[in-house]
Amino acid sequence: MNLENLKSKFNQLTLESEDHWDYRGNNKSERDYVHGFCTYPAMMVPKMQREILQVCLEQSKNKHLKLLDPFAGSGTILVEGMLQGLDIVGIDINPLAVLLCKVKTTIIDPKVLKQHTNNIACEINRLKMSQIEHHSFDGIEKWFTHQAITDLTILRNAIIKDGDINIRRFFWATFCEVIRIVSNSRDCTYKLHIKEKSDIDGYDKDAINLFLKTLSFNVDKYLTFYNKLKSTGKLKKDGVSYKGKIKIVLGDSISYLNHTKQKFDLILTSPPYGDNHTTVSYGQYSIMPLRWIQCSDIDDAFDERMLYTLNGIDNLSLGGKSTNRTMTKKRKSVLEKSATLKNQSEEIMVIAKKQVNKLIAFYSDYDSFLSAISKKMNSNAISVWTLGNRKIAKQEILMNKIMIELCDHYKLSLVTSFTRKILNKRMPEICAYTAESTKSQSTMTREHILVFTKDI
Ligand SMILES: C[S@@+](CC[C@H](N)C(=O)[O-])C[C@H]1O[C@@H](n2cnc3c(N)ncnc32)[C@H](O)[C@@H]1O
Repeated sequence: MNLENLKSKFNQLTLESEDHWDYRGNNKSERDYVHGFCTYPAMMVPKMQREILQVCLEQSKNKHLKLLDPFAGSGTILVEGMLQGLDIVGIDINPLAVLLCKVKTTIIDPKVLKQHTNNIACEINRLKMSQIEHHSFDGIEKWFTHQAITDLTILRNAIIKDGDINIRRFFWATFCEVIRIVSNSRDCTYKLHIKEKSDIDGYDKDAINLFLKTLSFNVDKYLTFYNKLKSTGKLKKDGVSYKGKIKIVLGDSISYLNHTKQKFDLILTSPPYGDNHTTVSYGQYSIMPLRWIQCSDIDDAFDERMLYTLNGIDNLSLGGKSTNRTMTKKRKSVLEKSATLKNQSEEIMVIAKKQVNKLIAFYSDYDSFLSAISKKMNSNAISVWTLGNRKIAKQEILMNKIMIELCDHYKLSLVTSFTRKILNKRMPEICAYTAESTKSQSTMTREHILVFTKDI
C-alpha cells in the first residue's frame, strides 16, 4: 500500500469540493443494488464507502485483499467488497444484521428466485382461504393489531413452507420490512414506543399486499446486483457462485477476533458511537421482526434467549453491561490511554453523573475491541472508520479524538481524516429513560472518517 499516495488521494477528493463526502443531490445517496433491501438503523452511504474502497484498492499492489467489517450491520461494506471481487468477512452481534448480511451476499439463480416468488404468491392465496392458528409471543397484541397478526401469520406460514433456506432468508428480509411498517411502534425512533391509541385504531395497512410489492422491489434490486457481478466477472462459470470467499459471523467481534487465526489487509467499518441504550438501539429495533422469524433460518449460533427481553441484544452489544458501576482495572486503564476521554468523563460527572458509567463502560469495551483487532491486522493494513460523535447532556463526546489516542497504544497511526455532513440520525440526545428519548432528534451533524495504517 502506498501510504503517501493514499493520503494525497483522500486529501485531493476532500479539497475538490466542500461537500464531496456529503453525497447529497443528483441521487448520489441512492441505495443501489441490494443496499435498499430492508431498513436497519444508521446504515452507511453505499456510494461513499464504494469510493473509499476504490481509493484503497487503487493504492494497493495486491488486488485480492481480505476485507473485514467487524460491525457489519446491514452489510453495506460486504456488498461493496463483493462488487470489487474481494474475500469478505462480516461480524455482528445482532441476528437481524446477520440475516441481512447473509441475504445480500448470497447468490441465487434468478430463474429459481422468480419461480419461488411465484410459488409464494400462490401459497399466500391458499392460506388466505384456510383456517390458521395465529403466531404468538409475549406482548404480540400490544405491538400488532388483530388484522396485522392475521396477515403476518399467513406470510410467516407461507415462508416456512418454502424448502430452500436461501430463498426463505430472502423472504424473511422482505418480511422484516413489512413488520416494521405494520407494527404499533412509532417510526420516529429506533426504540420501541407504542403509537397513540387513535393511530392504532385507525390501522388501515394491508400487510400481504405490502409484502408482495416489497418482494417484487427486492427481486428487481437483486437482479441488478446479480447482473453487475456477472458482467464484471465476479461469478464462477456456473453463474450461481461468487468467486471470492464469504464469511458472516453472528457473535461478539471481540471474542471472534481473539480466537480467529485469520489476519486482514483492509478493514472498513462504522462502529457503534456509544452503548445501544443511549445512542442507537439496534437491538430494540430488531426484536419485533426477530420474534416473527424462524430463528433456525438465521444462524446456528442464534440463541433465542436474547429475544426474551426488549434489551436482550442491546445488553450483549459494546458497552451493554454498564449496570455494573465498579471502576475496574480495565475501566481505569482506558481513561489512562485517552486524555480526551478522561477530561470528558470528568465533565460529564459534574453535569450528568448517571451517564458517566455508561460512557466509560462503552470505551472500556471499545478498547478491548481495538486491542483484539490490532492483532489481526497484517503490517501496513489499512483501516477506515466512519465515526459519529454522540452527545451526552448536550456535550459532544469526541470519539474522533478518543479513537486516535486509543489507537496510538496499538501501533495504529492516523494516515488522514475528513468529515461529512449528516442529517437525520434518530438518536436520543439526553438520557434514554426520560420522555425526551421518545422524540426524534438530529443530534449529529458530522461524521468523521479516519484512515489508519498498522505500523510494521
Ligand atoms: C453503526 S452500526 C453498523 C451499520 C453498518 N455499517 C450499515 O451500513 O448498516 C454498528 C453495528 O455494530 C453492532 N455491534 C455492537 N456491538 C457489537 C459487538 N460486540 N460485536 C459485533 N457487533 C456489534 C451493532 O449490532 C450494529 O449493527
